[in-house]
Amino acid sequence: MEHGYVPGASLPVTLLIRRPCCNSNEAEMCTPEVSKQIRDACKDLVLSDDQLRLVMQRLSDEINRGLSRQTHDDATVKCFTTYVQDLPNGTEKGNFLALDLGGTNFRVLLITLDGQNFDMKSKIYAIPQSLMLGTGTQLFDHIAQCLALFVKDLKLQNEVLPLGFTFSFPLTQHGLTQGNLVRWTKGFNCSGVIGEDVVALLEEAIDRRNDVKIDVCAILNDTTGTLMSCAWKNQNCRIGLIVGTGSNACYVEKTRNVECAIPGNYADHKSHMLINTEWGAFGEGGVLDFVTTEFDRAIDENSINPSKQLFEKMISGMYMGELARLVLEKLVNAGLLFGGKYPTDLRKRGKFFTKYVSEIENDPKGKYTNCREVLAELGLRNVSDQDCENVRYVCSLVSRRAAYLASAGIATLLNKMGENNVTVGIDGSVYRFHPHFHDLMTAKITELQNYKFDLMLSEDGSGRGAALVAAVASQRR
Ligand code: GLC
Repeated sequence: MEHGYVPGASLPVTLLIRRPCCNSNEAEMCTPEVSKQIRDACKDLVLSDDQLRLVMQRLSDEINRGLSRQTHDDATVKCFTTYVQDLPNGTEKGNFLALDLGGTNFRVLLITLDGQNFDMKSKIYAIPQSLMLGTGTQLFDHIAQCLALFVKDLKLQNEVLPLGFTFSFPLTQHGLTQGNLVRWTKGFNCSGVIGEDVVALLEEAIDRRNDVKIDVCAILNDTTGTLMSCAWKNQNCRIGLIVGTGSNACYVEKTRNVECAIPGNYADHKSHMLINTEWGAFGEGGVLDFVTTEFDRAIDENSINPSKQLFEKMISGMYMGELARLVLEKLVNAGLLFGGKYPTDLRKRGKFFTKYVSEIENDPKGKYTNCREVLAELGLRNVSDQDCENVRYVCSLVSRRAAYLASAGIATLLNKMGENNVTVGIDGSVYRFHPHFHDLMTAKITELQNYKFDLMLSEDGSGRGAALVAAVASQRR
């Protein structure tokens, strides 16, 4: 037993009324209950439908401000034009390179499209924190180096392959092959890049090496890639959503509503355009204060971008584990969990990983195998069922709130589009690995709006989506 922790020492009264469990069939009936004190301590994390409807109304206002030329510059939800106006039709062909920067890892891919067949070779390269926080030149030199190694490995250095660059940060675009960085998000903060055209920075880094030839056909957001990748299989896909390290969505908008698009560009020649909402920034300026909690404020204060990306901080995987840890810490401090004792490690920021939330919630009701494994990893052994149930309760509050906020976002977009049978293509580690995220979202979106819709896991949007955007763009050329 560690840290003098006596299992069940100061357990809430509920333990006393627990019936003994005899076998697994009864496990469900015998699940310990979470006490009123714990529920009270966490109550701000529970969002009512009325609150979610207000979130929707405010997000809708912010989206309109982003789209309108008069208010775009001051808007928090920017709704950037992507210049992606054609969805794939399944006939795209060719070999394409793709770069994917913006999640936990950096990837280089070679994608072969041939009708409905698809082949992919890829390599993952770690981006050390020193690079995420170093200079832009170091970052782009590293990207160019990985690209060159990959291309040489595949003996393609003498070909000029079209490349799609999935760069998952907010960009102001004036065309498909130009994108100026507006701000870094998700733990990146490289100097000398904000305001610059990242395609030019990539091309300069490739030129500095002078050992490979690349034709950058398109720069795109991961939400765009996700939408394209899903649309390749499903013609109804009109929204792309990421719930991973960060959170963001893009959707198909009528070009006539895209007032902030540069006049005279080809934006106005086609009826629709993909809009990258960058909804992660929603909440800046106080519009989400009515739902933010003490835990959100602590996350924000300790982040490298305080008072920015507030909606993202309530939803995405970069913050979910830490949110749960902060709630657990509060319960321990109040003597409501683990007998008031907490391993020192768990008092440190970042020690409760987001994947733990999914693992703990993956335990069947009344069983705590994963939960005990996670707690053991953190130095807590012999934990009572009651404590495990409480930990699971905290995880489920945090993930449920994230799923509901993302649902409010999708419901807002569905209302805005005003169409039935829209498919939402979704990617990202939280959506992919959390056991209930999909079901929670399906139920809540249904409650919050009236259009029929589908949620579909979008396979590898950042890779295949980049190839599809590059393919559509090179066809246009
Ligand atoms: C952040 C980025 C956004 C991206 C999202 C998901 O919100 O700003 O561009 O789409 O993370 O990766």
